[in-house]
Amino acid sequence: MLILAFESSCDETAVSVVRDGREVLSDAIASQADLHAIYGGVVPEIASRKHVEAVALLADQALREAGVSREEIDAVAVTYGPGLIGALLVGVSFAKSVAFALGKPLIPVHHLRGHIAANYIAFPELEPPFLALCISGGNTMLVDVRGYTDMEIVGATRDDAAGECFDKIARVLGLPYPGGKPMDDLARGGDDRAYALPRSHVADSELDMSFSGLKTAVVNLVHNAAQKGEAIDRPGLAASVAAAVSDELVPRTIAAARQLGRSTVVAAGGVAANSRIRADLERACRENGLRLYLPPLRLCGDNAAMIGAQAYYESQCSPYADMELNAYANLPI
Ligand code: KG4
Repeated sequence: MLILAFESSCDETAVSVVRDGREVLSDAIASQADLHAIYGGVVPEIASRKHVEAVALLADQALREAGVSREEIDAVAVTYGPGLIGALLVGVSFAKSVAFALGKPLIPVHHLRGHIAANYIAFPELEPPFLALCISGGNTMLVDVRGYTDMEIVGATRDDAAGECFDKIARVLGLPYPGGKPMDDLARGGDDRAYALPRSHVADSELDMSFSGLKTAVVNLVHNAAQKGEAIDRPGLAASVAAAVSDELVPRTIAAARQLGRSTVVAAGGVAANSRIRADLERACRENGLRLYLPPLRLCGDNAAMIGAQAYYESQCSPYADMELNAYANLPI
């Protein structure tokens, strides 16, 4: 089954052609990150306008690179939530028009299900059930993936997402947006014990997380140092932040896998590119006898190949969307 997939939930416009959920024939992406960097974060209206400009050209590119004609496509897939509503609406409207014009079925895909499915592309042998750690700019959650389309959130952040925490801290350190990668680079060679940063404890939940206390602690630390004219050990602070975020995520991931009796752990989302989190997950899974799948870096961030991958499995289990399909800023997994 050949699927033409669209992704436009944030600041990447992406179109991909995927065969049978696993084989990526093309993966065209236009990132707007440089544009939003001027403002220190994504400006929703600018994101929507850039999607409008880019989407048709990228669709053309994706088909050309895949060597596939419009008529050969079997179905059209699109991210319909969660994300920035104006940005999502561009992808949904365009995908609906393509499906309508070609007379092909339309498959709606949840953005985070897509991030998880990025692993099906990288690892042909991977199949549910497994425990997924989904860590992106807007979401942080532990998901019990019982089947390709049967999932339950078993733990989640109570406030900020892990990526948001990295991005906000990067901003006070004067690093460019999005700050996760620059923070990761800065942390290399830094002493992760340079600063004693808080670890959260969510009173009534073993698996829920919190990042706002960490973010506020670091923002205050940087501002206090500036007021007193004290220098910051920047690599040490970046390494200490990465250790604190990882300490929030990794032990809970192991605890969730144990509680659910899962023997496989999968990471997903932009923050899954973080070198400290990857190293800690590798060590913790090895020590606990768990199989770990870490997506290659190019599949961690937003892309449409992951949407095409998940769409294939959605098409096996769920009805196609009708022409009333809408976009949703918030959407349960
Ligand atoms: O999954 P993604 O591309 O978009 C969303 O769906 O949100 O994730 C973007 C997030 C941003 O917060 C970015 O700073 C973060 O992923 N990120 C990283 C790294 N690379 C990207 N965070 C930590 N370390 C990285 N190496």
